[in-house]
Amino acid sequence: MKKFIENMPKAELHVHIEGTLEPELSFALAQKNNVSLKAKTPEEMIKAYDFYDLPSFLDIYYAGMSVLIEEDDFYQLTMAYLKRAAAQNIVYVELFFDPQAHTIRGVSFDSVINGIHAAQKDARTELGVESQLILCFLRDMSAESAMEHLQLAKPHLNKLVGVGLDSDEKNNPPSKFAEVFSKARSWGLKLTMHCDVNQDNTQEHIRQVIEDIKVDRIDHGVNILESDALCELAKSKNLGLTVCPVSNKFVVQSLTSSELKKMLEKGLLPSINSDDPSYFRAYLNENLIALQEEGQFSKEDLITLVENSFKTSWLSEKRKMDYL
Ligand code: ADE
Ligand code: ZN
Repeated sequence: MKKFIENMPKAELHVHIEGTLEPELSFALAQKNNVSLKAKTPEEMIKAYDFYDLPSFLDIYYAGMSVLIEEDDFYQLTMAYLKRAAAQNIVYVELFFDPQAHTIRGVSFDSVINGIHAAQKDARTELGVESQLILCFLRDMSAESAMEHLQLAKPHLNKLVGVGLDSDEKNNPPSKFAEVFSKARSWGLKLTMHCDVNQDNTQEHIRQVIEDIKVDRIDHGVNILESDALCELAKSKNLGLTVCPVSNKFVVQSLTSSELKKMLEKGLLPSINSDDPSYFRAYLNENLIALQEEGQFSKEDLITLVENSFKTSWLSEKRKMDYL
């Protein structure tokens, strides 16, 4: 099964580029940019990855970004991930990035997006890995800040396929960003939002993203299983749900394999993704392998999960057919 998983051509729809920052690159960039790190070695850095819920993960994730300063740092970060993607037989990726986490440190929006975009372009020609970029707003910052960053993205619309919403969900419902997402849609961008697992008011948040925001996809969204009405709604709209098993293991102590089985049985469209693979020490293949080992998924189930990621991707219908 391990070989079967590794050899399958795959897509990944939920990976935060800042969550792919490997400790070795972090040390190299820290030295170049004169940034001091708490850890003395990459091994010591990994030992400090002690997360037990979403906020404890986010603290370490944001602190890790301090080494990303110049445009070329974002190029190196993105190229390193896309090389790993190629090595894992990932042929198509939709990447999230968190511009507010960089502009707040004085790094320009243009440096971030231009560095990422240049690596995407080179990876397409040099590695054969195709990718599209999704701008994520931080939901624990204000709606005004999100709107300002959407405006910063206006000259770069050709580099973006959509917008998303991440960071701490507590007391930050989807409705807070209704206006920003409505504007993004009017500019032709696709919409997705995180509905992290087991958050407060999760059913209401899932309802809002589907009915009010009218997203094109949901990130995580595992708690949809608690409501037959929401499941039917998601099915009627062919909404993909980007599930991240190893991430869930860290933040809710479960790979959610039984929930994924139920989602498949109900005819929902879950896909498997890595979320923040450097921090969770698992890229896409490791997520699929861990899931299969725990849930004894059949080859057919694994194929369905991988097909779902292409089906619910934001490739054109014509390009999807090249992969399906
Ligand atoms: N930012 C990066 N990873 C995230 C996650 N799993 N949930 C919310 N925000 C994030
Ligand atoms: Zn995520």
